[in-house]
Amino acid sequence: MALRNIVLEGDPILRKRCRAVDQVDDRIRMILDDMVETMREAGGVGLAAPQVGMMRRMFVAEPEEGRVYCFVNPEIIEMEGSQLGDEGCLSVPGYQGKVERPERIRIKGLDREGKEQEYEFRDWDARVMCHEFDHLEGILYTDKAGQVYEVTAEGDE
Ligand code: CO
Repeated sequence: MALRNIVLEGDPILRKRCRAVDQVDDRIRMILDDMVETMREAGGVGLAAPQVGMMRRMFVAEPEEGRVYCFVNPEIIEMEGSQLGDEGCLSVPGYQGKVERPERIRIKGLDREGKEQEYEFRDWDARVMCHEFDHLEGILYTDKAGQVYEVTAEGDE
């Protein structure tokens, strides 16, 4: 595994819609593994492929320590309710903002092995997944936040 460079806000890579992954093969698994390592090293709870310069529809997330998800070609198939909370982003270091997100989602996609998976997430987990999903559409949380403010260094998404 290897650490990858994280693309920062201002780079047009973060503003493009990502293409579907054709096949979950060893190369894709290697990138997903690198993304998990890079996310952990940076102290984040999620990382999407465009953040490491890959314009493909996949992300990794670890909303709680030790609980890691890999989503390839994810689709959010249900959304319900709303919640308001703070978010950061590894591509926007040093900032946070309050963002409205659904309170509950159902999301499906392929896992690291290329098998279908479907999950229901609530609260913080739902927030993390929606944030990462948005990256695949070229959307940053700063687009949705009412206000973005500077914070001292700590864990970001
Ligand atoms: Co982010």
